[in-house]
Amino acid sequence: MDRIRELIEEIRQFGVQNDVPIMSVESIDTINKIINENEIHSILEIGTAIAYSTINFASNENIERITSIERDDVREKIAIENVEKSGLKNITLIHDDALNTEINEKFDLVIIDAAKSQNTKFFNKYKNNLTENGIMIIDNLEFHGYVGKSKEIKSRNLRQMVRKIEKFLEFLDTQEEYNVEYIEVGDRLGVCKKKW
Ligand SMILES: C[S@@+](CC[C@H](N)C(=O)[O-])C[C@H]1O[C@@H](n2cnc3c(N)ncnc32)[C@H](O)[C@@H]1O
Repeated sequence: MDRIRELIEEIRQFGVQNDVPIMSVESIDTINKIINENEIHSILEIGTAIAYSTINFASNENIERITSIERDDVREKIAIENVEKSGLKNITLIHDDALNTEINEKFDLVIIDAAKSQNTKFFNKYKNNLTENGIMIIDNLEFHGYVGKSKEIKSRNLRQMVRKIEKFLEFLDTQEEYNVEYIEVGDRLGVCKKKW
């Protein structure tokens, strides 16, 4: 497992040096804690990038399988290489636009960490892939501190993107089927659990 830890650290450094957006170490630790405390054995991840979080979660001994989707060609190629280097056999990488991918399997955890402006679409599509007690986690709900301040943002593109995250938060508020908890770690995680 030390070899995997070294590889994960190499991938993290590569990500930082090459401006690949990856989860913070604190967010990874928090999600691993959620995995361990909630009998989570399978994960569907939307947004692989270079498989930093994928390999992290796959190396959690509770995880039997993780499927991860990435649309970018260059990142997917690096992700495949990194998964090969890890030697882990419980990872399935899918190279596709997650908005068009058809997945029939169910997962104990769905992690949404892709285009932040598409969170509502990902949520509505992939909630169908959750097992009965399944959990959905969405990363970057603070978006570098901009969320809640969209009116002050000068750049039109950034303002529109932040506005979409704000709208997604309003949408989450209306989800009567789910309890939503926010964890102030990394760039803020949203954790949605089905109500019973
Ligand atoms: C924040 S990065 C993922 C980081 C990764 N989860 C980690 O922590 O190591 C988001 C990734 O989602 C990918 N992405 C964005 N929209 C997507 C879509 N519709 N389908 C598949 N991948 C998408 C981007 O290309 C990018 O590599």
